[in-house]
Amino acid sequence: MIDELMSNPDPKARIGKHFLFDIQTIPDYRGKIGVLESNKTVPFEIKRTYYLYDVPSEAERGAHAHKRLEQVIIALSGSFKIIIDDGKNTYSYNLRSPSVGLYMGPHLWRDIKDFSSNSVALVLASMHYSEDDYIRSYDDFRTVF
Ligand code: TYD
Repeated sequence: MIDELMSNPDPKARIGKHFLFDIQTIPDYRGKIGVLESNKTVPFEIKRTYYLYDVPSEAERGAHAHKRLEQVIIALSGSFKIIIDDGKNTYSYNLRSPSVGLYMGPHLWRDIKDFSSNSVALVLASMHYSEDDYIRSYDDFRTVF
């Protein structure tokens, strides 16, 4: 899927796309290294990284979509659930391994919940932070379809 995205120059091909992928891992007797590289194993140039931590188990995050932002989300520690709505269907992903990434293209409504204690969610993002890129009303999100 990543190769497919990288070989397609049309940004519209990324709208509503989401999939899990295995992160390149270098193991030896000392432990493991997980590696992610812009425009190679991550299908965009990484402009920003941020992480969610100290999230109470009852907290619900997300509840928005993005107009242009692409992201990869990784459960570096612990686990959480992401529910994705592409305007037609909903999909639920349980992220619980630091060796798996979830790619999310633009125009996906996401809810993130069920954070385990000490969970850390790392997010790689294709754009600097911009509130203008957010769609925070579900009704507005739905009007696109
Ligand atoms: P938001 O993206 O809504 O959080 P989540 O999807 O994790 O629930 O962001 C929450 C607040 O943090 C919001 O006021 C915007 C701000 N924020 C930044 O200033 N910079 C950032 O890079 C991010 C991700 C959020």
